[in-house]
Amino acid sequence: MSEKSHTHIALPLKYRPMTFEDVVGQEHVTRTLRHAIESGRIANAYLFVGSRGIGKTTLSRIFAKAINCSSPKGVEPCGECSNCCQIAEGRSLDVTEIDGASHNKVEDIHQIIDAVQFAPTTGKYKIFIVDEVHMLTTAAFNALLKTLEEPPPYVRFIFATTEGDKVLPTIISRCQRFDLRRIQTNQIVSRLEYICSQEKIEANRDALLAIARGAEGGMRDALSSLDQLISFKGDSITEEDALNVFGLVSRKSLEDLVTAVLTGDAATILHSVETFDSAGKDMRRLAGELMRHFRNLIVYQALGGNATELEATKDQIESLAQHAKLCDSSRIFRIADLLADMEDKLRYVLSVRTLIEMTLLKASRVAKVATIEEVMRAVQALRAGLPSTLPPQQTSVPVVASNAPQTKTVVESSKVSQSIDEDETEDDEEESLQVIEEPKKEEAPPPRRELSTEERRAILDDPKLNDVILKKLPGSTVVDFR
Ligand SMILES: Nc1ncnc2c1ncn2[C@@H]1O[C@H](COP(=O)(O)OP(=O)(O)OP(=O)(O)O)[C@@H](O)[C@H]1O
Ligand SMILES: [Mg+2]
Ligand SMILES: [Zn+2]
Repeated sequence: MSEKSHTHIALPLKYRPMTFEDVVGQEHVTRTLRHAIESGRIANAYLFVGSRGIGKTTLSRIFAKAINCSSPKGVEPCGECSNCCQIAEGRSLDVTEIDGASHNKVEDIHQIIDAVQFAPTTGKYKIFIVDEVHMLTTAAFNALLKTLEEPPPYVRFIFATTEGDKVLPTIISRCQRFDLRRIQTNQIVSRLEYICSQEKIEANRDALLAIARGAEGGMRDALSSLDQLISFKGDSITEEDALNVFGLVSRKSLEDLVTAVLTGDAATILHSVETFDSAGKDMRRLAGELMRHFRNLIVYQALGGNATELEATKDQIESLAQHAKLCDSSRIFRIADLLADMEDKLRYVLSVRTLIEMTLLKASRVAKVATIEEVMRAVQALRAGLPSTLPPQQTSVPVVASNAPQTKTVVESSKVSQSIDEDETEDDEEESLQVIEEPKKEEAPPPRRELSTEERRAILDDPKLNDVILKKLPGSTVVDFR
């Protein structure tokens, strides 16, 4: 143990990718940079924009090495020649790394402009990497403009920033800009699996998934957390350890909660949320993760389990397959809408738990209640002598209709259909609910009768619309929908 700690190098540092091939994700950037090297068309300046720990500095260094390497392997730096080694160790005379946060004044830029005059010593290019470039003052940016536009032929600039919006447009227009993406959870899990096998750390996939979920797309954060867990727990890490660090709920509990929503199981929803809250889980993260799960569910239903857009591990994809069977895509879209509204409200709401409970209960109703459109289709199918088009749990309507030889009809607007689904009871929307007598053969259509307030409210309040029609308006059927 003590021997280990003397030689310990932090995992993010130890596993910094050395070649474009090693970089996880960011294919849109590596592809273009490789192509630029291949074709010898290297721009004067590059700008890497993206959140922390997703590869900006890493890519800047790989690119600097690749264009100054004395024996490159294709477009990749060899990593062994003196140029590569000096750049990796930060002592190359041709590559200058500047921290824009602490060197942000005009005088600092003047030093760069002075240094630009001298040709490179051993490499082909003289390269300036400026990190956190958005921290430069406006005067400093302006001092740089001319050099950036017309640098000596051997000079190249690489800028990196977490805040692209703060970089002056005049600077951006002189650069090739790349927006780096957050790294997908499943890609982080694979990287963690590789690192654990190298480090002889025992950790199952759910434990690594928990770390990746906690890192929210940042590779450095994921590696730092793994490091922290190793020093805390030793060579074997469980899902529980990782969940506790981040205040996350387990994959299984999250998926069970989603099942409860999709099956309309209100009791389980309330019980789960209560359990998570009292176990001190981070409720905002729970909200975010639910949103992500439903987003994946939409992708799964649209594109299938092999879609690269799915940000899910193999185990997660198996649950998505189960969830996809429980609910059709139009309902999933509407649940996702409810969750998106919830995300907006999370910023200012006082009780996150109550908001989550209410949203999930609403969502569970969306998942189960038959929409007016479905009831309509079912009735039309019935009239045409076709089998019911309603999902199995909503088959009460055809029964209603078959027992209803003739009488009343519920007419309503699409606005009301929405309000029923969303459990709203605004008066103006209720206005359009009416009952009319169904025409008997050869007779003039009977006059429309307004529903009483009580009847209207009952319809709007009751989750089982079909049952309402059965109970409150015996013998009625739904025939018109505007
Ligand atoms: N795309 C990636 N693929 C593999 N490892 C990565 C990637 N991005 C980051 N890492 C890991 O995280 C560490 C830090 O990455 P890097 O310094 O490139 O982040 P950065 O984007 O410059 O972040 P910051 O904005 O905080 O400077 C790397 O040493 C590496 O271990
Ligand atoms: Mg960096
Ligand atoms: Zn080299």
